[in-house]
Amino acid sequence: MIEKINKLLEEVESFAPADIKELESLRIEYLSKKGKISVLFNDFRNVPPEQKKEVGEKINKLKQKAAEKINILKEQLSGSSDENIDIDLSRPGAKFDMGSRHPLSIIRNEIIEIFNRIGFIVTEDREIEDDAHNFGKLNFPENHPARDMQDTFFITPDMNILLRTHTSSVQIREMEASKPPIRSLSPGRVYRNEAICARAHCLFHQVEGLYVDTGVSFADMKQTLMFFAKEMFGEKTEIRLRPSFFPFTEPSAEMDVSCTLCGCKGCAVCKHTGWLEIMGCGMVDPNVLKAVNIDPKKYSGYAFGMGIERIAMLKYGIKDLRMFFENDVRFLNQFAKI
Ligand code: DAH
Repeated sequence: MIEKINKLLEEVESFAPADIKELESLRIEYLSKKGKISVLFNDFRNVPPEQKKEVGEKINKLKQKAAEKINILKEQLSGSSDENIDIDLSRPGAKFDMGSRHPLSIIRNEIIEIFNRIGFIVTEDREIEDDAHNFGKLNFPENHPARDMQDTFFITPDMNILLRTHTSSVQIREMEASKPPIRSLSPGRVYRNEAICARAHCLFHQVEGLYVDTGVSFADMKQTLMFFAKEMFGEKTEIRLRPSFFPFTEPSAEMDVSCTLCGCKGCAVCKHTGWLEIMGCGMVDPNVLKAVNIDPKKYSGYAFGMGIERIAMLKYGIKDLRMFFENDVRFLNQFAKI
């Protein structure tokens, strides 16, 4: 009997299962009800009384030892289970999608950067405006059609509070808040009550520029805008100023750049004219200066305003304005490296 116990003890000590499954079969083989160790307890009945104490102690120790051994092995095998997972360390990592700048942000930043270089400072202001800043102080006559419900989103029934229809309102805010010399650039969102289509949207973006100082002339404006056009569209770009009308500038002009796509030969984008209209501009109307308490006899200034979508469409050859607002990643991804 003692020999049998010692043999089993040796066996228990040399347990070396490869995994949890093998360990479990060892447990069943030795410790289950009909296992090798449990069976010893049955044989114990036949042990002569004088040996009972010694044999009993040995069997108990064996059982304890086997249980301990199995517990230790169990811990080791489950603790090391991660190490057994097949890992291919040379496998490339999982790719995750990188965001990219929106094309409108890219163009806005480019415009800001160009004008920053010649001293224009970014000033932003509110999108919810009052009539005075969006229209009145900008010299819009009382019955100007732009004030019409068809163009403007009014917020209050008295039509005093509205969503700004252009960033020219920031000109007024800026001139009220500071004294000349003023050289400001105001990018931002504007709203108009238009049906959404490939060429128009109820929401779009503009950049407004303003320079007010003593002795500012139309020639200064032309030079500044020419610099901008060449920086934005390339050294060979030419500009053309056409007479126009805006209530807040006198004289007013519309600026065209030579068509960069066809080199002025005429194409579908420039409608076979060789020129692309990109902004409105002009000398700040003396009435506007008066409205913000700047003496028009002492100071003069120029202002300009352009649509960011329009510039982006020309630069990237985008034909539908709605693309900017749909957030389709197939569209946006194309600007990832720009
Ligand atoms: N506010 C004009 C618009 O929304 C653009 C504009 C034209 C701005 C002439 C100006 C300017 O500052 O001088 O169409």
